[in-house]
Amino acid sequence: MQIKGEYHIPALLKETIDLLEVRPGKRFIDATLGGGGHSKEILLRGGELLSIDRDPEAVKNMEDFLKACPSPAKGGGKFRPPRLVQANFSDIDKVAQENGFTEVDGILFDLGVSSHQLETPARGFSFNLEGPLDMRMDPNLSVTAKDLVNGLNEGELAELFSKLGEEKFSKRYSRAIVKARQVKPIETCNELAEIILRNSPPKGKFDRTHPATRVFQALRIAVNDELNAAKEAFPKALGLLKKGGRLAVLSFHSLEDGIVKRFFLENEQKGIIKVITEKPVTPTPEEVKQNPRARSAKLRVAEKIINS
Ligand SMILES: C[S@@+](CC[C@H](N)C(=O)[O-])C[C@H]1O[C@@H](n2cnc3c(N)ncnc32)[C@H](O)[C@@H]1O
Repeated sequence: MQIKGEYHIPALLKETIDLLEVRPGKRFIDATLGGGGHSKEILLRGGELLSIDRDPEAVKNMEDFLKACPSPAKGGGKFRPPRLVQANFSDIDKVAQENGFTEVDGILFDLGVSSHQLETPARGFSFNLEGPLDMRMDPNLSVTAKDLVNGLNEGELAELFSKLGEEKFSKRYSRAIVKARQVKPIETCNELAEIILRNSPPKGKFDRTHPATRVFQALRIAVNDELNAAKEAFPKALGLLKKGGRLAVLSFHSLEDGIVKRFFLENEQKGIIKVITEKPVTPTPEEVKQNPRARSAKLRVAEKIINS
């Protein structure tokens, strides 16, 4: 179970780190630091590390962890401190260059949001928490979920929910949103979730997810331009890998996984990589029991087989 107060429980931790073949002295980039679960495991296994996150809270959390670690003089120093950078991983080439992390042995992308982001009401990611409709991973982004919900027209909202949420009832929900906002702007996560709930068709017997799940997913992906960031970052990451270096990507929904799958296939056909995971690695029932958020995780790993 999720431990209250824990920043994030990493999904497929052992599987990911094993497949990245972390060994002392090898160099890695964790493009999605989050709560640092994967980063810390890389460090504990002796890897040298550059960790990136676009959310300043993730970087601060890791800085605080490192400050609390005992210094070598006090018997600590089990690992070399990582380099930490707040940035969008779509700039991974620039960040790697600036930090001397070109020619690396492995790069990890653990896509999506952290539990900390989801569970902090003020960040506005969650349909069951009362918070402003925000959803920005990087608080410096200029457009929030509230701007989209109140600013897009009915057709644009329907297209967004359908494309980025794969929502079957996109038209029904966009109509309901436009009607509701004629009375007053939709300001909070709960307000939006209520509108969707009131307008959702009766629940199917096997439908256990909240009807607003897909609408919230679509808004989050749009606010953070998540799919384009991944599409931009993967070729750059490949360029940073040594021959024999590995790229590991954890995805949590079919849109992300589709991008990873296509990217791997195209580059395998070009003879640049060899896909290591013939089928994606998924969590065991025990892991899902301990960490229900890991249930949709899919891990794909590829090895670069040429010098770039
Ligand atoms: C699933 S969490 C990572 C969890 C992490 N592996 C751990 O063990 O705690 C995803 C993290 O990636 C970050 N992120 C998502 N998209 C990003 C992007 N385009 N650039 C940089 N960071 C991003 C999010 O802010 C979030 O902290």
